Amino acid sequence: MPRVRVHQHVNPLAPFYRQAPRPIDLAADFADPSLPLHLDVGCARGRFLFRMAEYEQRWNFLGVEIREPLVAEANRIAGEHSLTNLHYEFCNAMLWLDRLIMDIPSGILQMVTIQFPDPWFKKKHAKRRMVKSELIEAILEKLSVDGRVFVQTDIEPLADEMFKLFRGRKEMTEIAIRDNPFPIKTEREKAVEEKGLPVFRAMFAISSSFLS
Ligand SMILES: C[S@@+](CC[C@H](N)C(=O)[O-])C[C@H]1O[C@@H](n2cnc3c(N)ncnc32)[C@H](O)[C@@H]1O
Repeated sequence: MPRVRVHQHVNPLAPFYRQAPRPIDLAADFADPSLPLHLDVGCARGRFLFRMAEYEQRWNFLGVEIREPLVAEANRIAGEHSLTNLHYEFCNAMLWLDRLIMDIPSGILQMVTIQFPDPWFKKKHAKRRMVKSELIEAILEKLSVDGRVFVQTDIEPLADEMFKLFRGRKEMTEIAIRDNPFPIKTEREKAVEEKGLPVFRAMFAISSSFLS
């Protein structure tokens, strides 16, 4: 079946994308809602999570994406492969991630990945960028005490901006990483690596001083 065709970018500030999502009910979307949850924000066609869900069946994988047709297609493919630990949601994460994950029980959200998130690298489009303090706040509300947040991009000024936002949070501490810790690469990561371009990566955890 041909891949669904979509606009390359959508404006997250347009009225259609301001609709609030329904809070996710893990019990309705995953066979075992008690498994640790990996959330991938801005998952596009969701191929990274699809491979991760096949590879690691002791985790649940939730993809969040603003381009609705990609979400429908990704859920259809997950269903065709009977992957009951994989689900995708249409959501404008810049505005509504907090609402989408508000009913997730504490301790479940153990991994968040934000990978090559933004097409909005021009200064005049800065308002459309996904990773802002509100998004980090939403993650921190639900991240398990031993949870991790992995961020990567090929656009250095955006890496600087995103890493600065995470590093500025007293609740978070940075963990040194040498490479991508996952066994699967995203579509964008593969494309960037094929061009031989650098990737900027960082990993964050809840700071121990915040826990005590
Ligand atoms: C450059 S693509 C990278 C996709 C994938 N993470 C990868 O690494 O191959 C960025 C993705 O983030 C999505 N995105 C951008 N802003 C978003 C937002 N506010 N909420 C949810 N998804 C968003 C885009 O639609 C796009 O699919």
